[in-house]
Amino acid sequence: MSILVTGAAGFIGTNLVRNLLSNGEIVIGVDNLCRGSINNIEELIANPNFSFYKIDISNLLEFKNLMVEINARTPITEVWHMAANSDIPAGIEDSFIDLRDTFMTTFNTLSIMKEFGIKVISFASSSAIYGDLGSIPLTESIGPILPISNYGAMKLASEALISAATESYLTKSYIFRFPNVIGVPATHGVMLDFIKRLAQNSSSLQVLGNGTQQKGYLHVDELIDAMLFIKNESSEKVSVFNIGCGDQGITVKDIAKETVRQASPGAEIVYGDGDKGWVGDVPKFIYSIDKLKKLGWSPKLNSAQAVAKAISQIIKQESK
Ligand SMILES: NC(=O)c1ccc[n+]([C@@H]2O[C@H](COP(=O)([O-])OP(=O)(O)OC[C@H]3O[C@@H](n4cnc5c(N)ncnc54)[C@H](O)[C@@H]3O)[C@@H](O)[C@H]2O)c1
Repeated sequence: MSILVTGAAGFIGTNLVRNLLSNGEIVIGVDNLCRGSINNIEELIANPNFSFYKIDISNLLEFKNLMVEINARTPITEVWHMAANSDIPAGIEDSFIDLRDTFMTTFNTLSIMKEFGIKVISFASSSAIYGDLGSIPLTESIGPILPISNYGAMKLASEALISAATESYLTKSYIFRFPNVIGVPATHGVMLDFIKRLAQNSSSLQVLGNGTQQKGYLHVDELIDAMLFIKNESSEKVSVFNIGCGDQGITVKDIAKETVRQASPGAEIVYGDGDKGWVGDVPKFIYSIDKLKKLGWSPKLNSAQAVAKAISQIIKQESK
């Protein structure tokens, strides 16, 4: 019996695979390495309980052929679907990217699950599905939900597909909506971007937007812990949970200051205009994790602590 993880060589996938392996699970990882990297999973590949396959899962035929081979050896009992386009601005430039990597990967994963009788899915959804609701707290029951990015739209469409599949051929589904997740191996995101910019120019940091964008940040260790907790504790057939740090978040300005403090003390910070980093960016949102707290899980780190920890980890990652 084994667990399939899509997007296994990405940032969250790598951390998830490591955790599942440490719990003694047999894990099959797939990733086309468009954003993830073999370097991320090098140490995991050495584990005999982990098999990795480079494959584009938006190609159903290729995906199916691989699953026939794997399922004959170690039948798959559940799927963690983490593969998606994680570059929101890229998906706004070219909406096909999110159709292919965020939506079709979900469509195909569900097709495979139906064909091979795999009954349980855990899905990496996002706070991006909520769109820009200003100061209204984002709870799981809020609506109408109107995303403002193609990425958010394709995540919401994926949730809808999973809900329909759970009515038909799945026994349980877990939809985890998380905001900004940080830590290592960092593949994208504001902290990695700042650290790379400072590596090129240690005396000045150019920030996209005026720095007032404010978001909640969750460390990846806490994310994995929360997802596994929900899987153990939630009895809903379709379990939809916001996972976050539960605070008001911190501003890009504060992230820039902390990055400069740790990576290049004394560097000047230069801000741009406007409160959005890019079209489709949600400048500020209040993320409710009341449902998760009621279930019994609370984060240990607030956004500022998670950011400080991640910056120090990413600086180490980039200096290797
Ligand atoms: N990191 C965050 O802040 C965050 C927030 C909300 C939701 N999410 C979701 O969590 C999941 C993991 O995100 P991440 O931060 O680890 O991003 P990531 O880019 O590091 O990981 C995603 C992985 O999916 C792979 N992938 C993409 N398209 C594929 C395809 N067609 N076939 C096979 N593999 C493919 C990429 O190569 C990458 O390794 C994604 O679904 C993302 O949308 C992430």
